[in-house]
Amino acid sequence: MGKNYIPIIDFESCSLTKDECSHEDLGRIGKQLVEEFSNVGFVYLKNYGFTDAYIDKLHEVTGRFFTSPIEDKMRYERKGASAFGYIEMEKENSTMNSKFPCDYKEAFNINGESLARDNSEWPDDIAPGFSEGILDFMTRSQKLSLRILHALAIGMGLKDENFFYKCHSKMHTKDSYTSAKTMYYPPIVHELKPGQLRHGEHADITTISLVFQDKVGGLQVKGLNGCYVDAKPIKDTVLVNVGDILQHWTNGRLKSTVHRVVAEAHEKQGRSTRRSLAYFSLPNNDGLFNKPLVYKDESLNNEDDLSIKPILLEKWLFEKMKQFWDVTEIE
Ligand SMILES: [Fe+2]
Repeated sequence: MGKNYIPIIDFESCSLTKDECSHEDLGRIGKQLVEEFSNVGFVYLKNYGFTDAYIDKLHEVTGRFFTSPIEDKMRYERKGASAFGYIEMEKENSTMNSKFPCDYKEAFNINGESLARDNSEWPDDIAPGFSEGILDFMTRSQKLSLRILHALAIGMGLKDENFFYKCHSKMHTKDSYTSAKTMYYPPIVHELKPGQLRHGEHADITTISLVFQDKVGGLQVKGLNGCYVDAKPIKDTVLVNVGDILQHWTNGRLKSTVHRVVAEAHEKQGRSTRRSLAYFSLPNNDGLFNKPLVYKDESLNNEDDLSIKPILLEKWLFEKMKQFWDVTEIE
């Protein structure tokens, strides 16, 4: 029986405030990450390199967008298969199951290609500093994610310790689905629909995800015993979780854990505006979803089963995205 709480790992020796960190420190933290990700699949990192003050400032900037009139926000609506733009209230169904109502939230998605996006496509006219803030956040989050993945590669004993670096080399280009998402959960003024949540139950379609939440809370993670545990906001920490791709690559050793955001766990929670920022790391589209990892310890290696047809990540991810956004108009 594993742990049923979310542990805190001190990332200080590999913090982003350091340009470089030692192989020894990466390996030590990597081993801790592997151990904890094999349990609940989520960890808090403290001393990782930026603080709540930085995130609060970003919430302030993006908050100006979300509190603008709906007609202004709709000018930036996400269209078709694009992973960039505004998603209005009750439009996204995180459960990917039409039996459940859509999330009681608004969001703005930013894909990796956005670094090269034309200024006019950003909502800087209604939320000054939006693009600058988000792009800086993405650059920092990319660096942090790659450092975590590097630590994991060493901690897991991969034969090629740069394997994750290599298969995430196209993160902020059109050749990767890596993205950021700023989420806005307004106060709940009417009763929610039956089964409706602020953010429906789901696991992430990522390698790893970073979640920066504000002080309101409501995020819950499904523990190994099937019961939800609160992922309470802890000052100056970031939550890191394993997604479906890393779970698959590790044959289920690292856990992609189901999570959700509820409104009623604590009094006043649902009456408060909640904000969170997430960064989703995904591998290069031209990699394979079903290729076993290669470990230094050869006894851990699974033979390549040549009878299994290789699945290109781009194809696997596109199918998932289509399901998520119901992008039926795309061939
Ligand atoms: Fe998630």
